[in-house]
This record gives sequence, C-alpha cells and structure tokens, in this order.
Amino acid sequence: MRTVPPRSAGRLLYAQSGGVTAVINATAAGVIETARARGVPVYAARNGILGALREDLIDTSKDSRAAIAALRHTPGGAFGSCRYKLKSLEANQAEYARLIEVFRAHDIRWFLYNGGNDSADTALKISRLGKAMGYDIRCIGVPKTVDNDLAVTDCCPGFGSVAKYTAISTLEASLDVASMADTSTKVFILEVMGRHAGWIAAAAGLAGDGADAPPHIILFPENAFDEVAFLAKVKATVERVGWCTVVASEGVRNSAGQFLAEAGTRDAFGHAQLGGLAPVLAALVKEKLGYKYHWALPDYLQRSARHAASKVDAEQAYAVGKAAVDYALDGMNAVMPVIVRTSDAPYRWKILPTPLARIANREKKMPRGFIRRDGFGITAAARRYLAPLIRGEAPVPYGKDGLPAYVRLKNVAVTRKLEPFAP
Ligand code: F6P
Repeated sequence: MRTVPPRSAGRLLYAQSGGVTAVINATAAGVIETARARGVPVYAARNGILGALREDLIDTSKDSRAAIAALRHTPGGAFGSCRYKLKSLEANQAEYARLIEVFRAHDIRWFLYNGGNDSADTALKISRLGKAMGYDIRCIGVPKTVDNDLAVTDCCPGFGSVAKYTAISTLEASLDVASMADTSTKVFILEVMGRHAGWIAAAAGLAGDGADAPPHIILFPENAFDEVAFLAKVKATVERVGWCTVVASEGVRNSAGQFLAEAGTRDAFGHAQLGGLAPVLAALVKEKLGYKYHWALPDYLQRSARHAASKVDAEQAYAVGKAAVDYALDGMNAVMPVIVRTSDAPYRWKILPTPLARIANREKKMPRGFIRRDGFGITAAARRYLAPLIRGEAPVPYGKDGLPAYVRLKNVAVTRKLEPFAP
C-alpha cells in the first residue's frame, strides 16, 4: 500500500512547454488528480519554465474537481506554454539560482515538465540542479508532441489525435475533390506540421489503401523533394484517377537541404518557423501542369482539434501524467514515463520510466521501412504502427450553444514572496 506524504512534505510544480496539443491538458488532469489522491498540493507554472523563473505560479487547488476533470477534453495548454531555452549551468548561473530560490520559497520538491525533446533537455538540466546547488528537487519529463519525434517512446501523446485529424481531413477533402474533378478542381494539397519528421504526413496514409485511393502522394521531410518525379506522379494520377490528393509535410527540403517553405523566423531553440509549402506546390502544379487546385494549411487547427481526438491518445496522455507523479513521489529523478508497445494487434501498451538523457535533444524520424520505395506513400509496416494510434473516439461534451463545453480554469496566482526577476 502507498503511504500518503504529509502536507509539509512539499509541493509539486507542473509546467507545460513547447507547442501544445489536443490532449496535453489530459496529462495535466492526470498529474493533478494523481497528486491530489496522494495528498500532494500542485502548483502550475504560468507559461512553462518562464512562470517558474518569474515566480508566476498558479494554485491548482483553487479549481474544483469538476474543472480539473474537464481538462481531459479541453485542448490548448491550460496554464500557458513557452518556447524558452535554458542555457547550460555554466553559461547562466543566475537563472538556475533563481529557479532554486523560487523552488525553496514555495517548498517545491518535485518538478514535472511536460514537453518535447527541447523540454526534455530543460528537464534534464533541472534534474541535475539538486546536486549542483544543494537543494533536494526531483524532476520528471512528461512526453508530449504532435511531431511524434521523441526518442525511446513508441509514440508521443498528442500525435494520435493529430494523426486522426489528418487522416480524417484527407479522406473528407478527397471526397470533395473527387466530386469536383470533372469540371473544376483536379488537385488538392494538404500541408501538415511535424517539423523534421514525417509522422503526421504519414498518418494521412491511413485515409486509404491501394494505388487509386487518396492520398496519392505524401511528401516526407525524410526524402529530398524531387520536382520532376513529383510532377510526373501528379500528372499520372490525374490522368488515371481523375484527380489527385497530395499531403505535404512542412519540413520538406530540396536536394541542397533547404526547406521549401520557411516563414523567416526562428524560435529560442534556433528552429526555423515552417509553413507555407502548400501554396508553393500548388503554384508549381498550376504552372507546369495547368491543373486547377485547392490547398489547405490547417496549422494550429490540426493540433487543437480535440473534437476529433483519438481515444488511445487521450488515454495515453492521461496515463503519462499519472505515471510522472508516481515516479516523482516514489523518489525517481531525471526520467520520463515512456509508452512501450507490447502488441500491435490487439494493440497493447504500458508505461515505463526511461532516463531523460536518452531522450533530450534527439529526434526520431520515420524509419526507412515505413516509407514506400517510390517515396510517395507509407508501407504496410507503417500502417501497422500508425493504425492503433488513431483508434477510438474521445467525445467532447457539447453545450446548449452547440459548441464544445471546454473549461477555462481560474488560474489563481500564488502570492509572490521574492523580488521580480527578468529571465
Ligand atoms: O513542435 C510542434 C509543432 O507543432 C511543430 O509541428 C511546428 O513546426 C511547431 O510546433 C510550431 O511552433 P510554434 O507554435 O511555436 O510556431
């Protein structure tokens, strides 16, 4: 039986980081409900690690049990997120000293950082703080990213839902273009996120199987873009099927390694902001082949589409939050709960702790064996991997106004005890 620590045993701080997802708040619910059940109070940092540095903390006990439960079906990041890179301990002692000062002032003994590979790096640095600065703090990284590019874990919470949205959108838009193709649109191009990895684009492949089923072309960042082969495939598809659906990953590069579409800005980690590939491809199709086209860039719609979330994904998101609390309170440090697949069919998974050092700053791309030999589609192995992740619906309750009943937390600020600090 588990012993419930007394209240004086400290607080747990939870923060969300990086691009948010349709189910990151389900992880927050897993964290808060589990900590509550174990008698541990939870603060949340407003806007990720920045909230910890600024001593901008939220007292989650001010929100009711029902409000926390409603996080399970509410997209976005309930406490705000950030893209902020902590430098090394040597390069920015002041920030680390400040974190310890804030942790000490509020009796924070456990820190849970919910993010992708960059955030795992931040979590790893903080996990080493205790030793370096003589303060007992346990830090657990909690996985999340629509990009599905975290190492070790079989999949990342957030991905299954964006995958489902992408497969559904590909299927639905293809029914539309098929109807119009005789006298109007011949080519539809959908651009999806995913940064340097083609997982989201690959998920579009679940919309259909077989040479004539959409999507007819998937463009992966793992392959250099070949304009001649692309145009030939579009032309052949339109001539054979009557129309063509293309799904392109935002991270597609040319043979010189340059992104086909960069928005021109970079985030704190030096990542180029991507987006805008679909109109580039559409213009190419029009200019070289003369076909009428439509294109779509769902952008934030894809990672916030909680109404089309995957049940498996929503369950996994909750489970990693719960496991992270258990690991922290049971004394683990510098680990992340990862999803381990134990069987494809029936799909079975479990959660195990893995050292953050194996995950931080690594990127898991699509394996070669998941991309068809012609480079434009997914293989049966990819289908086996992807299919279970979009399975099941996780319905959202709707209000009388016909809109989803999403929750907005009170997010009551904790009284500050320290001098202001500008990160
Ligand atoms: O990392 C998740 C992600 O959604 C990427 O797919 C995308 O390129 C990026 O975030 C966009 O980041 P931001 O919201 O900071 O512009």
